[in-house]
Amino acid sequence: MSRQIAVVTGAAGGFGAAISKSLLEVGYAVAATDRDPAALERLGQYLGYPEHLKTFVMDVTDADQVEQAALDITERLGPNLTVLVNNAGIIGRGFCLSEKSVALSRQVIDVNLTGAFNCTAVFSRLMARLKYGRIINIASVAGIWGSAGGAAYAASKAGLIKASESWARELGPLNISVTAIAPGICKTNMLTQFVDQEAVAMSVDETKIVKSIVPVGRWGTPEDIAEVVTFLATCKSNYLNAAVIPIDGGMRVGTL
Ligand SMILES: NC(=O)c1ccc[n+]([C@@H]2O[C@H](COP(=O)([O-])OP(=O)(O)OC[C@H]3O[C@@H](n4cnc5c(N)ncnc54)[C@H](O)[C@@H]3O)[C@@H](O)[C@H]2O)c1
Repeated sequence: MSRQIAVVTGAAGGFGAAISKSLLEVGYAVAATDRDPAALERLGQYLGYPEHLKTFVMDVTDADQVEQAALDITERLGPNLTVLVNNAGIIGRGFCLSEKSVALSRQVIDVNLTGAFNCTAVFSRLMARLKYGRIINIASVAGIWGSAGGAAYAASKAGLIKASESWARELGPLNISVTAIAPGICKTNMLTQFVDQEAVAMSVDETKIVKSIVPVGRWGTPEDIAEVVTFLATCKSNYLNAAVIPIDGGMRVGTL
């Protein structure tokens, strides 16, 4: 049997790179996909593993491109595709009173939610043939709590959580488990500017903010997320299905 193949979307970003690295380390062949070809090239050089890491330009919002990428992936890495990590995402900030908020919300929902639908439809078919698979959806705590200035983002992630639970029902009988994780705040490209802006706006030291809202006293890292994704990808039991796992340092319960 050839190596199992994991497809990671948005692989050239903060979480995507850490998830790809972690899956390579435990023995997967990784199809690292992203819409940004230059960032994918840098990722390939940074991670190494030329034999087991292949990069594919794939915009998750383009269903034809996703179909084509699936053909290319199986041609270059083989048919043993058992893991999909729906990680590609954008944040977008728009208050509902702003004129741009509706156009922005379409864009955010297209990438974060429709993108995951496009990928799950195509890659779950390959897993169904194997009667085995693990699909891991990267949602957010915003999808549970909502987010001021990030309604579209929160709605897209809440939608992803409910899609995840629905796919878990549909695909569970085929031995394909579907789970979602809900990360808290990690300073990747996506969030660094907002965390920094917030600290400046509040005129407080960032470490004071983090200590006041995250019980473990630090922001998350891509490695925190990759650790849990790798556990979900490698978990042999299909009884771990339809779970939504917060990875937020305990932020949900707050501090007293
Ligand atoms: N950073 C956080 O604190 C945090 C918290 C909760 C959830 N998340 C989620 O984690 C995921 C990864 O975020 P990150 O922090 O690594 O962000 P990031 O900006 O570092 O990476 C996102 C990646 O997705 C890619 N991408 C964007 N649109 C795409 C598209 N249409 N098709 C294919 N690729 C596309 C980008 O090119 C980029 O490489 C996102 O879904 C995000 O919503 C992040």
